[in-house]
Amino acid sequence: MSPNVLIMYDSMTGNTEKLANAVAEGAKKVKGINVEIQKADSVDLKSVAAADAYAFGSPTHFSMMSGRTLSLLTRLYPIRDKMAGKPIAVFTTGAGGQVDALASIERTIGVFNPIFVKPGVTVEGGTSETDRLQAVKLGERLAKAALVHQRSR
Ligand SMILES: Cc1cc2nc3c(=O)[nH]c(=O)nc-3n(C[C@H](O)[C@H](O)[C@H](O)COP(=O)(O)O)c2cc1C
Repeated sequence: MSPNVLIMYDSMTGNTEKLANAVAEGAKKVKGINVEIQKADSVDLKSVAAADAYAFGSPTHFSMMSGRTLSLLTRLYPIRDKMAGKPIAVFTTGAGGQVDALASIERTIGVFNPIFVKPGVTVEGGTSETDRLQAVKLGERLAKAALVHQRSR
């Protein structure tokens, strides 16, 4: 079966959403990959359990991940065993503090025992073509990691 890449993101003003779409675009470039995007506040736990790889995107709020991203990770904690050992990539946008937001997500997700696809993408703004291309590449790297992971099972 084709691996599923699930992209989950929060966005208040659209910057992180643009990156999420670019990550999806990159993942779709890899042959044989199914890609799904869901917003953080309406993520379906069944799709999470069924997916083979994940991307998490968040704006920076108060030098960390957004509240909705933290709520999502809190909801996912009980099903962390379904996510363990699968590739995960993280992307954040901000106005200077985006690296802190990325670090806060990676630190929290570490509890889920993922295979991190690093480096993630962390950009100021998130609307430039350079930002978009970085996110497209991240999506490609994540999708390739999903294929490798599926073959190794
Ligand atoms: C409530 C709030 C708090 C924020 N706090 C920070 C911050 O601490 N550091 C930072 O770099 N940007 C901060 N920002 C800016 C956003 O992270 C930045 O504009 C981001 O790209 C917005 O993403 P979005 O359009 O996906 O919502 C904050 C924005 C909001 C609305």
